[in-house]
Amino acid sequence: MKQIGIAIIGCGGITLQNHLPGLALCPESKVVALCDSDAETLQKASRQTGINVTATQYEEIVKRDDVEAVIIATPNFAHAPIALAAIAAGKHVLCEKPLAMSYAEAKQMAGAADQAGLRHMTAFTYRFVPAMRYLSHLVKRGDLGQPYHYRSCRLQDWGTRNLGWRQVKKLAGTGELGDMLSHRIDFAHLLVGPMKRLVANLKQWHPVRGGAPNDLDDWAAILAEFQSGATGVLESSKLASGRNESWRSLDYVEVNGSEGSFVFITGEWNKLQTGKAGGPGLETIMIPEEFWKVPGSPRDPRQGDPLVTFRYDQAFEFIDAIRNQRPCSPNFHDGARAQAVTDAAVKSAEAKQWVEVE
Ligand SMILES: NC(=O)c1ccc[n+]([C@@H]2O[C@H](COP(=O)([O-])OP(=O)(O)OC[C@H]3O[C@@H](n4cnc5c(N)ncnc54)[C@H](O)[C@@H]3O)[C@@H](O)[C@H]2O)c1
Repeated sequence: MKQIGIAIIGCGGITLQNHLPGLALCPESKVVALCDSDAETLQKASRQTGINVTATQYEEIVKRDDVEAVIIATPNFAHAPIALAAIAAGKHVLCEKPLAMSYAEAKQMAGAADQAGLRHMTAFTYRFVPAMRYLSHLVKRGDLGQPYHYRSCRLQDWGTRNLGWRQVKKLAGTGELGDMLSHRIDFAHLLVGPMKRLVANLKQWHPVRGGAPNDLDDWAAILAEFQSGATGVLESSKLASGRNESWRSLDYVEVNGSEGSFVFITGEWNKLQTGKAGGPGLETIMIPEEFWKVPGSPRDPRQGDPLVTFRYDQAFEFIDAIRNQRPCSPNFHDGARAQAVTDAAVKSAEAKQWVEVE
């Protein structure tokens, strides 16, 4: 079997924590090249992986014949130019979230990849939590009935520390909105369909973080109306003091519909709370074992910390879609839809008005 050659562009935190261990579980793929604009980071990743084909310029890497697909894990401003260069070179692309700096950019990426007949994927990693996969299955099956409300709350404690590129508008685009709320916007689209209009607010508490200027939001909230008529309330904060910074902090989603309600909490990877309309209240149900991983994934869900290892199914989804020439889920269109909401939220917060989502 010929392995799918992968190049990783951006060898920082998420590549080491997620992309490399995920790919290591996929025998059908092989990481053949690494790229990082920072020579020291590149060297460290090369030493750690034993991969000697390296470059600081992505243009060199995307043209290589042994590279069939690229994973883009750079700061947000570089996603679109790198993806477009990779697509022009005929490579499949898995790109980190938020997909781009604007809806226009995201649409261009999705259009280019479709036109070239390539696989494209947005790394909305939390879709791979077993409980979210099961919840989405129940909603599709009709257990929610007509969706009435979507509610999400992401509360973390990042304090006033320096966030590097994440606190610089020209590198990140938005702060908490694109960084953390983008995943929960995607959950909303997955569970209750596209948003139609919204009003949003963004708040920056700390203009200086860790001694460096911060020109982005620490808190974001959206009040939304969906095309289905359902309503949504989404809140995300880096300043929920005392709640911890990691995945141990709150990541809560609740959907209410004509037939009942479901509550998803990322930390409870194999449980959901559910209640039937008119019933006695919420009860906890266990996620059936067949939902503990993506079908066909080589991952053993009993190995390792399940709150870390569910993420590795993302790499399998990408490789399996390339192998079977089928669309990835979530793809660039999902990334673009979330980006349209992000753009509308920024516009709304600036204008202090309701805004239609493109
Ligand atoms: N899906 C998730 O759950 C998740 C989690 C964390 C981060 N992310 C996303 O992943 C991306 C990277 O985040 P991170 O935390 O790994 O950041 P990071 O700063 O740790 O790593 C980014 C790396 O990209 C390199 N880089 C910058 N510009 C480059 C360029 N033009 N070409 C090549 N390399 C370049 C940097 O030198 C750095 O090593 C961001 O888009 C972020 O939003 C997603």
